[in-house]
Amino acid sequence: MKMSDLHRRAARCMVSSRAIKLGVIAVMAASVQGCFEAPPMDTEQVGFRGVGMWSTTNPDITEQLVALNQVPAALPATPAVEGAPKAGDIYQNVQVLGDLSVAEFARTMATITQWVSPEQGCAYCHEGANFAEDNLYTKVVSRRMMQMTQNINSEWSDHVGATGVTCYTCHRGNNVPEYIWFEQDGPVTAGGMSGNSYQQNHVGTEVGYTSMLSDPFSKYLMGEPDKIRVAAQNALPMRGETNNQPTQALENTWSLMMHMSDSLGVNCTHCHNSRNFSSWEQSPPARITAWHALQMVPEINNDYMTPLQPIYPDHRLGSLDDAPKTNCATCHQGINKPLYGVSMLEDYPEWKGPLEGGTLDAPDYTAAPAYGDPNAVEPESTEPSASLVNPETSSKSVIQ
Ligand code: HEC
Ligand code: HEC
Ligand code: HEC
Ligand code: HEC
Repeated sequence: MKMSDLHRRAARCMVSSRAIKLGVIAVMAASVQGCFEAPPMDTEQVGFRGVGMWSTTNPDITEQLVALNQVPAALPATPAVEGAPKAGDIYQNVQVLGDLSVAEFARTMATITQWVSPEQGCAYCHEGANFAEDNLYTKVVSRRMMQMTQNINSEWSDHVGATGVTCYTCHRGNNVPEYIWFEQDGPVTAGGMSGNSYQQNHVGTEVGYTSMLSDPFSKYLMGEPDKIRVAAQNALPMRGETNNQPTQALENTWSLMMHMSDSLGVNCTHCHNSRNFSSWEQSPPARITAWHALQMVPEINNDYMTPLQPIYPDHRLGSLDDAPKTNCATCHQGINKPLYGVSMLEDYPEWKGPLEGGTLDAPDYTAAPAYGDPNAVEPESTEPSASLVNPETSSKSVIQ
């Protein structure tokens, strides 16, 4: 069971208990079934007594999340040999990992295959016998992902600490990470007959099933992380000051907060003292760590994810032709510290930061040639065949 399924079940239980209060037990009986098996919740006091700061978790769901978030065993490291040739000396087209020994380079290729394309193998990024060629889009995207991973670990330790990230943090054995997002088409307006709902009033699965802004990401995780603060600092407008934030601005912030809580599997009180949401002095330290994430994720999206747009084949783009992007769930996947805070960097030090001679500079993709697509399925016969259905291309949206 995936995190999204677990959360969906939790949401169904919430809806159902409200329905019971309304006295429609008979109608809802079928859907509440799953709730009666819910165990007593675990609650832990996280703040001072009396401040109501509790963390509530469902032990049943915790058990399943633990099973889903284990770090895979590392491949045996290759012993360093003095004077051994480096990948950059032997191979023709290594721009990021040239400083690794040839043996360590081979181990790195084997690991990223396990992390990103265990089913397709090396062929997911290398077509034909010449591994130096950049002929598949997946190889070109991967090289940028390598730079991004090194950048996150070396420049954003205020967020990722010494734990850091690897390709596995996001990919978990999938070509496409389980949690990505796209910009949304305008709201359904009943053929122009109804007003613009500004992405409100329909259930947003990525924002904890609220009916507030369903895409807070393009607003805050690309554009304006500095616009999140909405709370008035005075009860009444003072001379020269206004408390003029519209209710909608608060709802937009709240919607992002729901995504953050949901992605980390925590309550608001993990980061706030609920007697005063805006006060930093009264907030637990995790809020500061989260603030750094709110600066880091826009960089990931603006400098790494979005510029890859011309490289992707159409079936990887969103309905507005935008590139797939990252939010808190991409790394966290339901846990306050991804993979329960287990670091993979000691086993794979090449991801700690840029290597000697390696570049972190962005390539120029403006004149991008059309790259090959390892997912493209060549029809072998004119007969439709079930085996031609490619699950990679047919399931695109992630949290449904
Ligand atoms: C997820 C994508 C991906 C997979 C899977 C992958 N590679 Fe690579 N490979 C790359 C990238 C990106 C580079 C370039 C690295 C750089 O620029 O530093 C590369 C470079 C290479 C090179 C250097 C070629 C040259 O002359 O420049 C070799 C050899 C290689 N890979 C072998 C393999 C083998 C063997 C496998 C399977 C065990 C494999 N790769 C799987 C992405 C991948
Ligand atoms: C912060 C999260 C994150 C990290 C870390 C990360 N990736 Fe990705 N990766 C993504 C996202 C998001 C996409 C876009 C998904 C898509 O292609 O639809 C992506 C796409 C890719 C793709 C294209 C897959 C496809 O089928 O379209 C490859 C290949 C890839 N990453 C390889 C890597 C490698 C190799 C590493 C480690 C060096 C890595 N990634 C690290 C988030 C990440
Ligand atoms: C993972 C940590 C985290 C969680 C969980 C979290 N928040 Fe926040 N929240 C923050 C951070 C960080 C900011 C400040 C952003 C900034 O200043 O740029 C913030 C800001 C806010 C603000 C605006 C405060 C102001 O000064 O205007 C409100 C309101 C808020 N959060 C409510 C909530 C609610 C309600 C929840 C639960 C649904 C929640 N938060 C969950 C970290 C969190
Ligand atoms: C690139 C991957 C990545 C992304 C994206 C990411 N985080 Fe994190 N986050 C981490 C890692 C790794 C840690 C563990 C750091 C450590 O062990 O010190 C962490 C830790 C945290 C913590 C501290 C947890 C605790 O209980 O002390 C908070 C809070 C947090 N992240 C919030 C967020 C929020 C909110 C977002 C989205 C705005 C986000 N993160 C996006 C990788 C990520």
